[in-house]
Amino acid sequence: LSRIGVLTSGGDAPGMNACIRAAVRRALAEGLEVVGIRRGYAGMIDGDFVEMDRLSVSNILQQGGTILKSARSKAFRTKEGRERAAEHLKAHGVDALVVIGGDGTLEGATRLGEEHNIAVVGCPGTIDNDLFGTDETIGFDSALNTALESIDKIRDTADAHDRLFLIEVMGRDTGFIALSCGIGGGAELVLIPEMLTDMGAIKERILSLMSSQSRSSIVVVAEGDELGGAQKIAEALREESAFDDIDTRVTVLGHVQRGGSPTARDRVLASRLGNAAVEALLEGHSGVMVGIVNNDVKLTPIRNVWGRKKEVDYDLLQLTALLS
Ligand code: F6P
Repeated sequence: LSRIGVLTSGGDAPGMNACIRAAVRRALAEGLEVVGIRRGYAGMIDGDFVEMDRLSVSNILQQGGTILKSARSKAFRTKEGRERAAEHLKAHGVDALVVIGGDGTLEGATRLGEEHNIAVVGCPGTIDNDLFGTDETIGFDSALNTALESIDKIRDTADAHDRLFLIEVMGRDTGFIALSCGIGGGAELVLIPEMLTDMGAIKERILSLMSSQSRSSIVVVAEGDELGGAQKIAEALREESAFDDIDTRVTVLGHVQRGGSPTARDRVLASRLGNAAVEALLEGHSGVMVGIVNNDVKLTPIRNVWGRKKEVDYDLLQLTALLS
């Protein structure tokens, strides 16, 4: 092992820069050379490589986004695309990779590693927190805190007008952000893709909430929920005459959740994982993802990570109902 590549791919997440920094600095400290691959797998296919030194990662720890940029590459999903990417890696003398990203990123890393005999170690980076093999993913805590800050603000205005607010948070297939925001923001109801949602039951619950209390109600909806998101739910409510007197508003938080400076928790997590990824490569591991489980670094075969569903904590779901 003499020269490693580092990349970020898929949806960016606060803390990715801290992870890049840790991987680069640990590798340099071990006498390795480091190449940054820009725009994820798309950049790998185009040969968009840049030499990295200590200075190229200075003053980035606290920044959101990713200095290496990110992309979702369709071409990399094909064998031909991965062949082109592998040729560039060979031409640049890259013999191992640290890839930072979510499910699709890790799947790509597995295929590239297996087809072209390249050592790969993954770091879990996604705000969705939906990766098996780690208690938390890089970016989740930051996104959660951003969403929570917005929910608190919406609560102020909701309360002033005794309104019903449907707040949509990110989470394409999963309710991790929604659930934790729901608990932290005191939401009256949380709707997530992991649970079966019955429109009739939701209407009843909201009506009972709004009639039993002369105050605001907040429903946190994960974007991937079964009913099609907050806007669709609001439309369905407005069709019912029982909701004529309920002043309803929708706020979709969207990509604001992906940006901003990472929280302390994410910076520490990302630094630990970036360091652990290089350590794993030095120890001869490949085809693994580094994660933190019960506060210890844990390696999980990447093949067991992607395409596998990490369960949300159903106790939290019950707790929202109990506490609202
Ligand atoms: O996977 C992270 C995520 O932010 C999801 O929560 C969301 O559904 C998706 O990415 C949005 O992707 P894009 O930025 O490509 O629209």
